[in-house]
Amino acid sequence: MNDSAPDKVTSRRGFFQLAFGWLAAIFAATASAAGAVRFLVPNVLFEPDQRFKAGKPDDYLDGAVTFLDDERVFIVRKGNTFRCLSAICTHLGCTVNRAGQGFHCPCHGSVFDDQGVVKSGPAPRPLDWFSVSLSKDNRLLVDKGRRVTDDKYLVI
Ligand code: FES
Repeated sequence: MNDSAPDKVTSRRGFFQLAFGWLAAIFAATASAAGAVRFLVPNVLFEPDQRFKAGKPDDYLDGAVTFLDDERVFIVRKGNTFRCLSAICTHLGCTVNRAGQGFHCPCHGSVFDDQGVVKSGPAPRPLDWFSVSLSKDNRLLVDKGRRVTDDKYLVI
């Protein structure tokens, strides 16, 4: 008469084992499917726009090399020509300072001439020059995403 009690317990245990087994299988299948779907989506970094307006040309004195600390660049004006030089050291990325006619990196001592060419130090290559153009509202428009050679000027 009392023989059905152990069967009920066994049956309940069996039910929970079966239920947990199915839950584990469903969880594993869902995780695998999510991983497969994620694999199909490329890892793309959407970087912010590298262009910025650097003010009016008349904001810069003739012959001046002006540091814009927010953008870590130098605006170089000679007469009616404008260029933009990166202030990011090509060694490990410190900000270079204006030193005499060139630039000096305070981190490991690289020295660059006024064209950004390495004169000494561990920097492996010259400083970068960036494209400068004139926006529709007559502001200097620097594009740090476009490197140019050191002989490219904006002439106004
Ligand atoms: S970061 Fe400029 S010399 Fe090392």
